[in-house]
Amino acid sequence: MTDSLGDWKRTHYSQELDEDMDTESVTLMGWVHEIRDLGGIIFVLLRDRNGITQITAPSKKITPELLEQIRKFKKESVIAVKGTVQGSPKAPGGVEIIPTEVKVLNESKQPLPLDPTEKVRAEIDTRLDSRYLDLRKHSISAIFKIKSAMLHSVRIYLEEKGFMEVNTPKLVGSATEGGTELFPITYFEREAFLGQSPQLYKQMMMATGLDKVFEIAPIFRAEEHDTMRHLNEVISIDAEMAFADQEDAMNLLEKLVHNAIKEVKENCQAELEDLGVELEVPELPFPRLEYDEVIDIVNSRGVSLSHGEDLSRAAEKALGEAMDGYYFITNWPSEIKPFYVMPHEDAPEKSYAFDLMYRDLEISSGATRVHQHDLLVEQIKSKGLNPDSFQRYLAAFEYGMPPHAGWGLGAERFTMCITGMKNIRETVLFPRDRRRLTP
Ligand code: 4AD
Repeated sequence: MTDSLGDWKRTHYSQELDEDMDTESVTLMGWVHEIRDLGGIIFVLLRDRNGITQITAPSKKITPELLEQIRKFKKESVIAVKGTVQGSPKAPGGVEIIPTEVKVLNESKQPLPLDPTEKVRAEIDTRLDSRYLDLRKHSISAIFKIKSAMLHSVRIYLEEKGFMEVNTPKLVGSATEGGTELFPITYFEREAFLGQSPQLYKQMMMATGLDKVFEIAPIFRAEEHDTMRHLNEVISIDAEMAFADQEDAMNLLEKLVHNAIKEVKENCQAELEDLGVELEVPELPFPRLEYDEVIDIVNSRGVSLSHGEDLSRAAEKALGEAMDGYYFITNWPSEIKPFYVMPHEDAPEKSYAFDLMYRDLEISSGATRVHQHDLLVEQIKSKGLNPDSFQRYLAAFEYGMPPHAGWGLGAERFTMCITGMKNIRETVLFPRDRRRLTP
């Protein structure tokens, strides 16, 4: 065993090898995925970031010392192998490596708490406890490569549309989305909270003349739910645009979602294959349903939903059976939307708020915002909140706040839609839920 790479340098990843490299010398580095010792010949599967390569060690072709070194390999140890490429139609990738020198860079403890070869299925809790091993499975790391590609696409798309990326505080003094879902923290001698949405900050940015901003950052929700769709820390993709309304916000959102799916399909073929996902790029524009129509659909499917109620899980499921793919729900009742949402002028019980759904899952919500100071104060009061707690936010509305609109898109829920994952925990490296605070 050695504690350093010395002068060893990796020359290739597994997937860069092919038959045309026959007889070429290469150096690979990775983990011992499997080892099969047939006495006169040892097969080792070396796994790296991109793939798996077979190391073939026949006693006839290599020294007894080297054979003995390889025989001692342990599963999941980190190894480096120097050797010669040889075409081998039966081996993964069509090549094998005949080793000339090997090095154990770090030995793995045995037995393993989790089997990265995926031969033994483990419960999600066991997998999350040993996430570093779980992520060695290509079918698991594929989810995060796709999430990363989606976030990259979203960022580039928004920048191209003239949005500026901003960072707003996560240590905050007040609620934004209704008062019940906050994590309190001690902020020196005062109480403060972990931010549940950049909502108030992105709105204040609208008064600066920067016009279009976005943020991709964690939000914290102290929700007690233990479901497949909720976590207590998630990434919100938030956008806010001035001189714009709900229609502009929905147009931006559907195009961004369409574009991200198209780009993931183009750029993550191997990862989608690892997951067995046939990704369909949704057609534009997405269908738009009014809240009242949703009530009819849900009721017609035998699930009770009255006007003024938010969608229960049963209602979401009934709706998901009726609606395939992505669709908007518009014209929500004002009473179940937050104070910053603009009511209809002529029918204030209705609001200019929308949700973006994928089948039975809400992935985004947005709205035209209230930009008039006095109306905002009135709405804060009508939600049973105290305008004094929002003094600094409200001040931004007194000195020329333009009309504006925006939305928040849950990065994990969107990743669930793309990857077909049913449990949101699959889309977060180290998820935070009601029970889990480590690793
Ligand atoms: O619907 P939410 O609470 O809306 C807001 O935060 C608004 N300020 C957004 C806006 O600009 N109007 O959250 C937006 C999205 C949800 O649709 C969902 O995808 C995700 O954030 N989200 C969660 N995802 C998983 N677990 C949770 N506990 C989530 N809370 C919100």
